[in-house]
Amino acid sequence: MTTTTNASPVPLLSAAELNVTFPGRRGAPSSRAVDGVDLDIGAGEIVALVGESGCGKTTLARTLLGLVPPSRGRVTFAGEPLGYGARSLKAYRKRVQLVLQDPSGSLNPRHTVYDAVAEGLRIHGHQGDERAAVAEALSRAGLRPPERFFLRYPHELSGGQRQRVVIAGALVLEPELIVADEPVASLDASVRGEILALLLSLRDELGLSALVVTHDLGLAWNIADRVAVMYLGRIVETGPVEDVLTDPQHPYTRALLSVLPESGQTPVVLMGEPPDPSRVPGGCRFHARCQVLASGEAARAGVEERCRTESPPVLTGGPAAQVACHWATAK
Ligand SMILES: Nc1ncnc2c1ncn2[C@@H]1O[C@H](COP(=O)(O)OP(=O)(O)O)[C@@H](O)[C@H]1O
Ligand code: SF4
Ligand SMILES: [Mg+2]
Repeated sequence: MTTTTNASPVPLLSAAELNVTFPGRRGAPSSRAVDGVDLDIGAGEIVALVGESGCGKTTLARTLLGLVPPSRGRVTFAGEPLGYGARSLKAYRKRVQLVLQDPSGSLNPRHTVYDAVAEGLRIHGHQGDERAAVAEALSRAGLRPPERFFLRYPHELSGGQRQRVVIAGALVLEPELIVADEPVASLDASVRGEILALLLSLRDELGLSALVVTHDLGLAWNIADRVAVMYLGRIVETGPVEDVLTDPQHPYTRALLSVLPESGQTPVVLMGEPPDPSRVPGGCRFHARCQVLASGEAARAGVEERCRTESPPVLTGGPAAQVACHWATAK
């Protein structure tokens, strides 16, 4: 677990009132995949974005990268609003790099490691010594000596090595922030720790910031300075890892934590259907599945009616611990 937060007061990346709506197919209701999100990532900070599959993590990540234009709200990087023109986006993608979910899928099987890593340099018209830059990026990603990997093909590498090549391809452009979508989901447990340790060392050595998207709260525990828990398009709890994971306030965060083997708790089985962003319920969006409401605890705290009828306030970005739950705020 990380105990230091290197966040600077001015966030490197900031999302405000972000909404992304996808039109429904054949007259179906539209999907509010991201539904009012404020999120800040500080320089040198690792933020984990956590939530069940389908809650909108990838859509939010892609919106922060400028790959999806928001329906409402804005993204700001280093104090400047993100522009959606081709030139602005190209410049932005040099500073904010995506590390994809599936390393075998994101590497072209016919490209050597050298070409895979050099690709970004070529797209951005790099003027310096390409070979030295590729070697440096591979080395930083832990593939040493780098020259040994130049002419290898993806199928000749292990899953962990392929993920390191993908990370090297991002690092070669010397970004300030990487967005890693489920970076270890397809890796064996034994290599996961190595890749997470690599991300931590990049933060410590290069001051690199990262948004790590994961459905696994345990992973957030191992790597992040701060965590944002997302449910049905919205951040429902956020704060320093120490606060959110040792003393979770939102019933949803509690349920996610309870299923981790190391929690030693009886797992909370979430009731009802998993999130469907085309049918966001009224009141608290979690109310149909909330164990605190079902058990009568919310009623005892005098908030049951509000749970069913009133949406908890949207959380602001920023580093402080915050929770969007009537019961957690009232108790
Ligand atoms: N391009 C798209 N068109 C329509 N719906 C989409 C699109 N991308 C994602 N969605 C929907 O948005 C919701 C959130 O998806 P996603 O962001 O992939 O969630 P997560 O990464 O948390 O699993 C899902 O219901 C998904 O079906
Ligand atoms: S606001 Fe009410 S329904 Fe929503 S999570 Fe809190 S206790 Fe549960
Ligand atoms: Mg996803």
